[in-house]
Amino acid sequence: MRTADAVSPGNYPWAMTTALITGSTAGIGAAFARRLAADGHNLVLVARDTKRLREQATELHDRHGIEAEVLTADLAEDAGIEAVAARLEDRRNPVDLLVNNAGFGNKGRFLDVPMADELRMLKVHCEAVLRLTAAAAEGMRERGRGGVVNVASVAAFVPRGTYGASKSWVVQFTQGAARDLAGSGVRLMALAPGFVRTEFHERAGMGTDNIPGWMWLDADKLVAAALADLARGKTLSVPDPRYKVLTGLARVAPRGLVGGISSKTGRKYGPQ
Ligand SMILES: NC(=O)c1ccc[n+]([C@@H]2O[C@H](COP(=O)([O-])OP(=O)(O)OC[C@H]3O[C@@H](n4cnc5c(N)ncnc54)[C@H](OP(=O)(O)O)[C@@H]3O)[C@@H](O)[C@H]2O)c1
Repeated sequence: MRTADAVSPGNYPWAMTTALITGSTAGIGAAFARRLAADGHNLVLVARDTKRLREQATELHDRHGIEAEVLTADLAEDAGIEAVAARLEDRRNPVDLLVNNAGFGNKGRFLDVPMADELRMLKVHCEAVLRLTAAAAEGMRERGRGGVVNVASVAAFVPRGTYGASKSWVVQFTQGAARDLAGSGVRLMALAPGFVRTEFHERAGMGTDNIPGWMWLDADKLVAAALADLARGKTLSVPDPRYKVLTGLARVAPRGLVGGISSKTGRKYGPQ
């Protein structure tokens, strides 16, 4: 059986040279960038902060000798989505792996969060993911190979307001598209992490003191497990046995029970 560590340049499921990662400068996206660069892949790095993107590109180039392009884009804006879509559609410089990772949390319960922030979340988590997946997958289908990883969350499996609903959409959309493109050589996989130590909670103004140590995942291990699942052809990756059990239970338990537990833990721990 393959282990996570067995996914190296030689055994990616297809000859991969360039990966585009949204939200590459921090947390899970930065872990994808580190891992893919270490495996020798060129990168297109996407986020809003140009200075940070340039520093990341220089560091990855110097450390791993790969080419790293910088693409500044706000995926909450049409212009940002269109700029990234145009790069993905560039047939002369094909992208072999797209990681739709950019995302954020909003602090507060429904009706406490401003509607503009709810809509911004849907734009980044759903509309951008839809449009960028389509932009990438078209060329991949023509070439007969490629992959898309859409970062969801274990919150997809429990009622957790707009955040959970948007991540649920990511899972359903990705698995449906994977089915539609089966046999084309294009792999699509939703990645559903539990709590990961990143900038996510601090950016959303959420405390993390209440979250027990055992619930935290390491971003680098998460990415290794995700890439191993992609190599195995999975359409949903829930890395880590603890979260596999929790999400398995959430999927078979009565919705009322899951909703009750979820709102208690949501109030206590916030989204992940
Ligand atoms: N951390 C967790 O516990 C956890 C658990 C499950 C799922 N997730 C999901 O994992 C993904 C990554 O989260 P993370 O924890 O790594 O967060 P993070 O550390 O806060 O990093 C977020 C990244 O996304 C970029 N970004 C944010 N808004 C953007 C926008 N409008 N346009 C373009 N880029 C944007 C940020 O850079 P700029 O600010 O420069 O744009 C940054 O590079 C998200 O989809 C999140 O929902 C996280």
